[in-house]
Amino acid sequence: MNEFVIKTSTRETCTVILQENALAHLAKHVGTSPFYFTDENVFRLYRTQIEKALPTAQGYTMSAGEAFKTPETLFKLLEAMAGAGLTKRSALVAVGGGVVGDLGGLAAGLYMRGIPFVFVPTTLLADVDAAIGGKTAIDFCGVKNLLGTIRQPRAVLVDSSFLCTLPRRELVCGLGEIVKHAALLPSLFNRLCSWDGGLFDLDFLAGLIPENLRLKAEIVSHDPTDAGLRKRLNLGHTTAHAIELFKCGLSHGECVLLGIFYEAELAKRYLDCDGEYLARLQALCMRISEVGPKEIDVASCARLARLDKKNPESGKVALVVPTKKGECAMLELPFEEYEGALAAIRSAL
Ligand SMILES: NC(=O)c1ccc[n+]([C@@H]2O[C@H](COP(=O)([O-])OP(=O)(O)OC[C@H]3O[C@@H](n4cnc5c(N)ncnc54)[C@H](O)[C@@H]3O)[C@@H](O)[C@H]2O)c1
Ligand SMILES: [Zn+2]
Repeated sequence: MNEFVIKTSTRETCTVILQENALAHLAKHVGTSPFYFTDENVFRLYRTQIEKALPTAQGYTMSAGEAFKTPETLFKLLEAMAGAGLTKRSALVAVGGGVVGDLGGLAAGLYMRGIPFVFVPTTLLADVDAAIGGKTAIDFCGVKNLLGTIRQPRAVLVDSSFLCTLPRRELVCGLGEIVKHAALLPSLFNRLCSWDGGLFDLDFLAGLIPENLRLKAEIVSHDPTDAGLRKRLNLGHTTAHAIELFKCGLSHGECVLLGIFYEAELAKRYLDCDGEYLARLQALCMRISEVGPKEIDVASCARLARLDKKNPESGKVALVVPTKKGECAMLELPFEEYEGALAAIRSAL
C-alpha cells in the first residue's frame, strides 16, 4: 500500500491510497451509512465485490458513457440518495471511470450542501488523471463540463487490477493523458521511451500510475482552483478538442495523441524548442495511436471548432505546447494563422 495526502490552499485534504483489492478495504473510509454510485458496465463486472464491500448500502447505477453525464442523471442520482435517506454524514462512494467520478463528486457536493465523497477509479484515465484534483462536472446545453465545481474527495482508492477488464480503446484514453504528463515530467518520458515491451502491457501501465498521480497531485496542490499552473494540463488539448468535436468516432485518447503530435509541430515552427526531443515525443504518440496524423483534416476541424465557439472575440487561439524535455509554453496564434499552419504541417507530412 502506498498512501499520500493532497493538501490544497483551500484547506481541503484528499487521501490518495494505492491499494490492491481496494474494494475489500473500502469500508474503513466510508463511515456507517455509505451509498454507492456506479455505471452499468462496472456494476455488471464488479457487482459481487461492491456488494460485499458495502453489504448494507443502497446504490444507484447509471447508464454508461459520456452521453449520460447530464442533469437528468445527476437528478436521478440525487433522488436515489434522498430516497435512501442519506444524512450529512453519509459518504457517497463512486466506483467507475471519469464520468462516474465527475457526476458523483458533483452530487456529493450538492446533497445537503456537501457530504463526504470517496472515489474508486476503474479506468486508466481516471487512475492517472480524473481521480485527482476535485474537478466535478456534467455536460449542459451541448457543452462538455459546462456545470461543475472544484471540491476535493475525502479519499481516492486506486487499484490497478480494474484495468484487466478495460477495453483497449479505454486504455488508449488513459495513455493519451500519460503521454501528456510525460511531456511535463522527464522521468516518465524516459520510462515510456526506454520500455521495449508493448505499451498496452497492463503491469507496465499499472507501474506508471503512481508517478502520474503524484505529478497531477503536485500541480493541483499548487493550483487547486485552476488559476495558473494547472493550465499546463491542457497540453495538446486545444487541438485535441477540435479533432474530437468533428471526428466523433475517435476516442478522447486518440485525439489527445494527435493533438500533442500537431502541437509539437507548431512548437517547431513558432518557438525555441528541442526538435530532436519533440520528434521522440511525436513518435511515442504514434506508437499508441491507431490513427495517423495525415488521416485527419485537422485544419478543417480547427476552423469548425472556431465557428462553433461561443466567444471568439479575441480572434486568437491559446495553446499549451510541448517545447523541450519537461517543458511547455503558451502559444497564442490568430485563428487564420493556426488553421493555415495546421494545413501546411499536414501537407508536409
Ligand atoms: N475531473 C477531472 O479532473 C477529469 C479529468 C479528465 C477527464 N475527466 C472526465 O472523465 C470522463 C472520461 O473518463 P473515462 O475515460 O474514465 O470514461 P468513462 O467513465 O465513460 O469510462 C469509459 C468506459 O469504460 C467503462 N469501464 C469503466 N471501468 C471499467 C472497467 N474496469 N472494465 C471495463 N469497463 C470499464 C465504462 O462503463 C465506460 O463505458 C470525461 O467525462 C471527462 O470529462 C475528468
Ligand atoms: Zn484529456
